[in-house]
Amino acid sequence: MQFPDYRPRRLRKNENFRRLVRETIISVGNLVYPLFVVGGKGVKKPIASMPGQFQMSVDNIVKETREAKTAGMPALLLFGIPDKKDEKASGAYAKDGIIQQAIKGIKDTVPEILVITDVCLCEYTSHGHCGIVENGSVLNDASLELLAKTALSQAQAGADMVAPSAMMDGQVAAIREALDENALEDIPIMAYCAKYASAFYGPFREAAESAPQFGDRKAYQMDPANSDEAIREISLDMAEGADIIMVKPALPYLDIIYRAKQEFDLPLAAYNVSGEYSMIKAAAQAGWLDEEKTMFETLTAIKRAGADIIITYWAKEAARLLNK
Ligand code: PBG
Repeated sequence: MQFPDYRPRRLRKNENFRRLVRETIISVGNLVYPLFVVGGKGVKKPIASMPGQFQMSVDNIVKETREAKTAGMPALLLFGIPDKKDEKASGAYAKDGIIQQAIKGIKDTVPEILVITDVCLCEYTSHGHCGIVENGSVLNDASLELLAKTALSQAQAGADMVAPSAMMDGQVAAIREALDENALEDIPIMAYCAKYASAFYGPFREAAESAPQFGDRKAYQMDPANSDEAIREISLDMAEGADIIMVKPALPYLDIIYRAKQEFDLPLAAYNVSGEYSMIKAAAQAGWLDEEKTMFETLTAIKRAGADIIITYWAKEAARLLNK
C-alpha cells in the first residue's frame, strides 16, 4: 500500500467513516468507580486534591451507588477511612468497620451493583504503611494474616470481589486460602499485581488519609524503572489464584499494560489513579485542557494499550456522557 493509491484520509473524512473503522470503544460495562467511605451521617466532604470526588458517609455512598447503577455502571471499588487508626489496623477487619457497614448499606438497597473492596491496611494503621511495622520496617508474613482477615471480613459482609493492594508477597494465596476455608470459594480476587511506588498516588493519600508517617513504600511497591519484574509479579499472583490481574498506575505505564495483555490471558484491569485524574482536572480548571476530550482520550489510550477493565474516578462522568 502506497500513496497515491492508498490514502488513509479517505476513511477519516467524516464521523461516520471514523466510527466505522474505530478500533477501540470504551464501554460503561468495563468501568469501575472508586469511592471513599467515612463515618457519620450526611457527610459529603469534597477532596480538595481531587475536584469532583468526595469522602462520603454510608447514607451518601448508598445514594451515589443508586446514581452509579442508573448510569449503568457494573461495579464500585470501596476504600474506607476509619474513625480510629492503630498499629494493627483493627478497623480493617472489624465486624462493624466502616467498609463492612458500607457493604451492608449498599447490599440492602442496591444489591445488583458489584462491590469490590480494597484490601490494604494503610488507611487503618496509625503509621500509614500497608502492613505491620516492626523496627521501622514493614513485615511481610505477619501482614499476610491481617490482609487475609480483612478480605475475609469484607467478603463475609457481602463484598462481591476483593482487591488486595498492599504488595505483600504471598497476599493473593493467603487471601484465597482464607476465603476457601470459609466457603467463599466463589469470591474472585482482583490482584494489584504490578503496583508501582508512584508519586501519582499523592492526591489519593489525602482522600484516604493514608500517607505513610515515615519513609515511603519503595520496600514493597515496585520500582517504576522495571518492566520484566511486572511480568514476574503477575505470574506469581496468577499462580496464587488471581482472577483478574492489574497494572497500576495506568497512563505512565501503558507499556506495562500492553506487555501484560500480550503475555497473559486473564482479564486485565488498569487503575487510572488519583494523580492522573487530578492533573487533568487542574489543567481543565485553569482552562488549559478540555476535560471531557482529555478524559476520553486517556480512557481510550488505556483501553487501546490492552486494559479490559478501567478503574477511574471519571467512571460516573464518563458513563453519563457515553449514555447521552
Ligand atoms: C492502598 C492504595 C493506594 C491506592 C490504591 N490503593 C495508595 C497507595 O498505595 O499509597 C492509590 C490509588 C490512587 O492514587 O488513585 N494501598
